[in-house]
Amino acid sequence: NRRQFIREMGLVAGAGISAGAFAAESTAAGNLKLYPGKRNPKHNLKVQLTNKAWATGYNNFYEFTTNKELVRHPFYMDKFKVDPWQIQITGLCEKPFKIDTQQLIADMGLEERVYRFRCVEAWSMIVPWSGFTLRKIIERAVPKKQARFVKFTTAMNLKQMPGIARLPAYPWPYTEGLRLDEAMHELTFVATGIYGKPLPKQNGAPIRLVVPWKYGYKSIKSIVKIEFTAKQPKTLWESLAPDEYPFESNVDPKVPHPRWSQATERVLGFNNRIPTLKYNGFGKQVASLYKK
Ligand code: MTE
Repeated sequence: NRRQFIREMGLVAGAGISAGAFAAESTAAGNLKLYPGKRNPKHNLKVQLTNKAWATGYNNFYEFTTNKELVRHPFYMDKFKVDPWQIQITGLCEKPFKIDTQQLIADMGLEERVYRFRCVEAWSMIVPWSGFTLRKIIERAVPKKQARFVKFTTAMNLKQMPGIARLPAYPWPYTEGLRLDEAMHELTFVATGIYGKPLPKQNGAPIRLVVPWKYGYKSIKSIVKIEFTAKQPKTLWESLAPDEYPFESNVDPKVPHPRWSQATERVLGFNNRIPTLKYNGFGKQVASLYKK
């Protein structure tokens, strides 16, 4: 679409991460006093954090645009309303519930964790997330015996999210899924903040998933629904290209993406490449999930 392209080029001219253009952040509303949660010493990777300008300025959020540096532009983010925001927990569980996200945060409490994050496109970052384990939500909902998977769904609002109409072949809304045991794992995190503040909209405000041993697309943003299912749910990326984005999608340097190698990665903000680690470095914690 030529008009779209010209418009985006105009915006790009004003962008530029290092210049810190349009640095004003549109974060979700939230009780700032809760942030950052107390740093959890068990999940405190002792490596240099990614510069915040990169983590909040280079984003994948296809509901808005495929241009990573433009997602955060007020042109997109100003229309995106994230407060109030309800999240529904439903499907095969004894105690389904629907709750305002700010209330959920107040109920669950926040902690801070530093995780490595690895995108399937072979870039990575190291960021401090504020949030709580997904397990806490699951325990409140009490899954039924038949529940074996958890499906996640992002909001779909065509007026607020112009990228959806530009990708009509995509099976919107954005959905993701985990096995129930993966979802219950101690590392599986629900983030509502980053760098000690509520999530900027472009990072998936007001509530997103972070699954640090899987490729970044599993870490679904701006969630409105969490659903327990008996069957493995179809995800957006798996429906589009099952060979490229399979359901499991654990980080593995030895398994190349069909179109590029996964052996190394570019850390945002640096020019060199570093080796990618199996399970993104979380093998000790998660390898046992995949013993046949
Ligand atoms: N969630 C939604 N709803 N839409 C998206 O386009 N992109 C995914 C994931 N979650 C995406 C999403 C991909 S490919 C990555 S790498 C991460 O979000 C990027 O998260 P970040 O922008 O906070 O770095």
